Amino acid sequence: MAGKYVVRTFGCQMNEHDSERLAGLLEADGMEPTTDAAEADVVVLNTCCIRENADNKLYGTLGHLKSLKDARPGMEIVVAGCLSQKDRGSIAERAPYVDVVLGTHNVHRAVELLHERRESGRPVVEILEATVAEDHELFPSALPVVRQAGYAGWVTIQMGCDNSCAFCIVPAVRGPEISRPFGDIVAEVERAAIDGVTEVTLLGQNVNSYGRDLTLRMRQQGSDPDGDSVGDVDPGRPVLEDSFVVGDTWLDADNARIRPLFADLLRAIGAVPGIRRVRYTSPHPKDLRPETIAAMAQVESVCEHLHLPLQSGSDSILAAMHRGYTAERYLERLRDARAGISDLAVTTDIIVGFPGETDADAESTLEVAAEARFDGAFTFVYSPRPGTEAGDMADRFVDHQVAVERMARLRQVVERSSLLGNQARVGRTEEVLVFGPSKRDPERVSGRTRQNRLVHFRPPAPMRPGTYAQVQIVGATTTSLLGEFVEVVAAPSHRTRIPVASG
Ligand code: 5AD
Ligand code: SF4
Repeated sequence: MAGKYVVRTFGCQMNEHDSERLAGLLEADGMEPTTDAAEADVVVLNTCCIRENADNKLYGTLGHLKSLKDARPGMEIVVAGCLSQKDRGSIAERAPYVDVVLGTHNVHRAVELLHERRESGRPVVEILEATVAEDHELFPSALPVVRQAGYAGWVTIQMGCDNSCAFCIVPAVRGPEISRPFGDIVAEVERAAIDGVTEVTLLGQNVNSYGRDLTLRMRQQGSDPDGDSVGDVDPGRPVLEDSFVVGDTWLDADNARIRPLFADLLRAIGAVPGIRRVRYTSPHPKDLRPETIAAMAQVESVCEHLHLPLQSGSDSILAAMHRGYTAERYLERLRDARAGISDLAVTTDIIVGFPGETDADAESTLEVAAEARFDGAFTFVYSPRPGTEAGDMADRFVDHQVAVERMARLRQVVERSSLLGNQARVGRTEEVLVFGPSKRDPERVSGRTRQNRLVHFRPPAPMRPGTYAQVQIVGATTTSLLGEFVEVVAAPSHRTRIPVASG
């Protein structure tokens, strides 16, 4: 299939990751990338529904695309992702000029559905209820990939979520937790490293529960994880694929099979030659284990950055959210993490204005945020999502203006600690992974330290994205550091390509 395509991504890194796969599928089918929707033959919108403004963004973008399509009727529009999964047929009703609608469980079908659309002459909507767990070949990470940044790779280790946070629509649109086989993940990272990827980010909604479902799947395959010893496989039983059985904690003291831990995965990925940085997002505070902290501390390539979503600092709101921890428990985990991992940066997610949140609850969040000394935080005003538990608490919704004011006070607290955290870097020499020219000053490049702090500096000569440089930190603001170039540590080895547009 000749022609040009563009993929626009809304939302989180999981969507960015799926977009790279969508681009990979289209290129495997013969298409070429463009960044300009006006000249694209296929425009893919990969949607998000975590908050209401994400919905509005999609319909705004679709309106604009309709006028492009009116001018060029051959253009095809594909809507994929979480919002399609949530709204199902209603996207096709609201926007009948959309050619293909697909959900979160059938990313691999994108090109086939486009072909079906052409053959039938009618729009195609395909939303599956669930991902087929056994069929891990269809796991998005197993699909062809076009990486947005050739040096950085996102690797899904787990899809879906088994928690039921009252505000969150993710379990409804991404389904229950499915862990990807250990060996498949390691193999993908090894392949990515050969392609020149030096930084990997492991993705999952709740990475610390990685592997929980694998034991169950082993059981369903006919192998008893608690009784069966590896050296003694019953010939009458189906033999497990090797890709499932990797990682130290697959075996307990009696040589019986148990589940792997996320910590094993960090160690295995950290040992892949060529991988200089390993990141992951997101752990759930209730499941953050000492083994993970130990792996972060001991594995050189695992970066000193923990993104640990707090959501609220009030115990009654945390309970209403079903988060499974108290503020004190959260702070305790944080203390353990900081004690175990030297020079750890911590960021978080916080929601203000959850239904029923009082002034006193909001005050508790400010206190916990101050005590936690976050290096950064994504703060959100609560947005009711249809079908979630909190979405039905309309009688307790917080006035929007009140929530906005609480948010402004919270921002002040977070900005105070992020400024202090950034100022503490001044005078140090840090390793920066460059991602491109600075937006404000084209003579500078921007990159990130191992702690994920943003740094701008002037390189002595043009510097390719993917370069690692030592940079002396000379200045700090709440959001970034200013540095002076010291030396290049490692040059990039990936091929350069045109980027996929971001939404
Ligand atoms: N309203 C506001 N913020 C939300 N988040 C998830 N659901 C909602 C919602 N309904 C936030 C949480 C989560 C982040 C990815 O988005 O803080 O950690
Ligand atoms: Fe949503 Fe909670 Fe699952 Fe995170 S852990 S994806 S907030 S339900």
